[in-house]
Amino acid sequence: MIKANVRARADRAAGAATHSAPENSGEALARHLDAILPGLDDLEARLHAIADAIPGRVTFSSSLGLEDQAVLHAIAATGRSFDVFTLDTGRHFPETLETIEASELRYGLKIRVVFPDVKDVESLVARDGIMGFRQSVEARKACCNVRKVVPLNKALAGAAGWITGLRREQSAERAHVPFAVWDAEHQLIKLNPIADWSLEKLEAYIAANNVPVNPLHAQGFPSIGCQPCTRAIQPWEDIRAGRWWWENLDGKECGLHNRPKPKEAHA
Ligand code: ADX
Ligand code: SF4
Repeated sequence: MIKANVRARADRAAGAATHSAPENSGEALARHLDAILPGLDDLEARLHAIADAIPGRVTFSSSLGLEDQAVLHAIAATGRSFDVFTLDTGRHFPETLETIEASELRYGLKIRVVFPDVKDVESLVARDGIMGFRQSVEARKACCNVRKVVPLNKALAGAAGWITGLRREQSAERAHVPFAVWDAEHQLIKLNPIADWSLEKLEAYIAANNVPVNPLHAQGFPSIGCQPCTRAIQPWEDIRAGRWWWENLDGKECGLHNRPKPKEAHA
């Protein structure tokens, strides 16, 4: 019911935004945003366009990483009422938790902390062990599923838009990330407003605005996930080499961002 309402509201907004026929839908609104966002010169303008176009709750998933801190800064600067949440897997670095508090204090906003279901975690650990994710890719994905993917679905329920900090430069898997796409799985518009940002641009934005960042970035961790599954990298290594480093570089995703199917991607 909620999903049907979101779709219907997106349909109406798509019609308003493009002045076109009633067959417009969430997909059409996503296509519209995907077309206009790259032409907007700064991140705040992109976020205003998103807030203007999408009826209903627009939520931002933050890992507290560099990209997400830049997006959070811009969200706060817009003064618009975006929802912000983070998934606490129970295995984060203490520095990541400190960054949640530092960000709330700096921007005067609340970050909704979403936890996994305790029974799911107990069953997983009873079956695979407390470090079970090291046994196999399947076991690792099972852990990511219980601690991240299922909670993500809970956090996104009822939202009309979902903002992430994905960038195309981050990996081959992400090279074609669109600015906006209809996410059929979650029945909402997924938005990647810094999809085209380079690492240099991101670092310059962080420095220019004195954005609070996870102190681990200065210790060789460009990409930060759960503590047992993230290591520091050497300067010559791939930016995501420290994530699940015992697995092959290809396809190292936790399931939060499934690759869009051809129909969904219009990059
Ligand atoms: S991951 O899939 O490898 O873990 P990454 O750390 O690159 O993802 O983050 C990519 C995007 O996924 C972030 O910009 C954020 O939107 C979302 N994300 C990742 N981890 C979390 C988390 N713990 N809580 C909320 N969102 C997250
Ligand atoms: Fe589990 Fe590691 Fe995935 Fe975190 S990153 S949810 S600890 S497998």
